[in-house]
Amino acid sequence: MNRQTRKTVIAGNWKMNKTPAEAKGLIDAIKAEISGKDTGLCEIIACVPFVDLQTAVEAAKGSAVKIGAQNVHWASSGAFTGEISAAMLKEIGVEYVIIGHSERRQYFGETDITVNSRVKAALESGLKVILCVGELLAEREQGVTAEVVSRQTKIDLLGITEAQMKDIIIAYEPVWAIGTGKTATSDQADEVCGFIRDVLVSLYGKNVAEATTIQYGGSMNAKNAAELLSKINVDGGLIGGASLKADDFAVIIEAALN
Ligand code: PGA
Repeated sequence: MNRQTRKTVIAGNWKMNKTPAEAKGLIDAIKAEISGKDTGLCEIIACVPFVDLQTAVEAAKGSAVKIGAQNVHWASSGAFTGEISAAMLKEIGVEYVIIGHSERRQYFGETDITVNSRVKAALESGLKVILCVGELLAEREQGVTAEVVSRQTKIDLLGITEAQMKDIIIAYEPVWAIGTGKTATSDQADEVCGFIRDVLVSLYGKNVAEATTIQYGGSMNAKNAAELLSKINVDGGLIGGASLKADDFAVIIEAALN
């Protein structure tokens, strides 16, 4: 983390977990965990399933917890059965949206081109974006991690202006570490987050690159969070499994506050 130039952000990615009633329970539990703590140094976000959003926004009101969605369509409206627009999210009080998560890329045909369209639509509607990039195991083994995250970062951000970058968080999520219990070492996480920052320097210059929050995601948990967050280029976490337990999530927030 480098609090001098950028904010620290801990975000939960609930994936396809929790009904609306359960979502209220979990948001309430997270609020109870952080109540009385000065969370000013760390932004806290819960990215919940679409049908939980309204309940979560309501439950989080007046607390430090911000609510995000896990995807958004690129069109503003129209014949896209089953999809949700940025304006719909914005109107119900959603602040963030995850775009380009590897599960969307892997199972739902997401490409860097569609990711880029979604990022543009989200920003234009006033949502903030958590943009996910990361390499597959085979890509790491072939030594092309830097090429992969560089390509993703450049195409996903195509046409995004320097001014818009203040509403972008990048999450580096090595695909081999997601939901596998295999965490990147803190040095690996720092190296690739640093590399992504170098790509941002080439695209937007040093000031924007230094001001951009770059999270690590992939089996981050209550035990390994402090070590990962101790690295200068790791500005937070995007947390799946461990974000579903309020006490574990609170330990990770605590690590980010220290
Ligand atoms: P995980 O998921 O923490 O369960 O590995 C992270 C993510 O996919 O964002």
